[in-house]
Amino acid sequence: MEFKAGVLVVMALCVSALTSSEDSCGQRPLVASPGMSRIVGGREAPEGAWPWQVSIQIQSRHHCGGTIVSNLGVLTATHCFYKYLKISRSLFRVVAGLHVLSAPGDQTQIRSISEVKMHEDYNGVSPDNDVTLVLLSSPFDFTGHIQPVCTPHNVTHEFILNFTHCFITGWGSRYYRGRLNNRLQEAEVELIDRRTCNLITWYDGFITENMICAGLESGASDSCQGDSGGPLQCYSEDEDRFYVVGVTSFGHMCGHPRRPGVYARTSRFADWLKTSQTASASAAHKLNTRLIPALLCAALMLLLNIHTVCQQ
Ligand SMILES: *[C@@H]1O[C@H](CO)[C@@H](O)[C@H](O)[C@H]1NC(C)=O
Ligand SMILES: *[C@@H]1O[C@H](CO)[C@@H](O)[C@H](O)[C@H]1NC(C)=O
Repeated sequence: MEFKAGVLVVMALCVSALTSSEDSCGQRPLVASPGMSRIVGGREAPEGAWPWQVSIQIQSRHHCGGTIVSNLGVLTATHCFYKYLKISRSLFRVVAGLHVLSAPGDQTQIRSISEVKMHEDYNGVSPDNDVTLVLLSSPFDFTGHIQPVCTPHNVTHEFILNFTHCFITGWGSRYYRGRLNNRLQEAEVELIDRRTCNLITWYDGFITENMICAGLESGASDSCQGDSGGPLQCYSEDEDRFYVVGVTSFGHMCGHPRRPGVYARTSRFADWLKTSQTASASAAHKLNTRLIPALLCAALMLLLNIHTVCQQ
């Protein structure tokens, strides 16, 4: 009897090791799916609602938002690093599982940065290709409060996901040049097609294919809620998951009509993201974290099997 129980435990462990966290993304274990109703205007986010949102800090002060895309990778904006290259990397840190800036709880995990991969074609003027992948010195442990988001594979995929709700989140100010919010804020926004966003009375041709505009139907009054480098995340009802559709880039001066927030369009950077992630030491690490438990399990199963055979 005892022996059978042992086999069952090992099998359960094997299954969990092989199907664990790395394959799942965009799910929030602590908060229900967005319902039918729309939330107009910004408000404090429910705790645990955005488990992929991080705070990138310099000397423990909030600097930019970011989005967890894997246990070692955080997506953010290049402009968060471009002008700060002289600041020692050791003064930066990435904080996940955070809700109240001034009061990180037991749920938070803090990591230092091992590498900053800025997009090679970042253009500081336009600012085109405003995406950067931050690699952490050690992986996040995924919990109910810390989860990776999904990323669209390409522009077609972004389209067929048929997003029903999009949100911007961050500790950014409610007002242009206002103070930071101590508590994580969320606001629902609508994706705005590029043609509209490029109209002469809007951004007048400034929006490239690598950018996506999003704002509120009722006007831009709340779109400053977003936070540089943080996510524009959309919910796919079909898949019941969230995707990071944009990285907060610019244009969130508040209260300007026809000046919605502009985001780096992640579906245009899927290949770049893949290359940046695999071309790093993280690849080896990722492999190890998955392979070791799998191999261990195989060995154990083998042992138990032999044992069974011996007993018969
Ligand atoms: C885009 O992504 C979808 C979903 O993963 C895939 O089926 C399709 O083949 C991709 N298209 C291109 C052009 O890569
Ligand atoms: C997209 O969503 C809308 C609204 O929920 C629905 O009516 C439509 O059938 C969906 N399209 C696809 C291709 O799933």
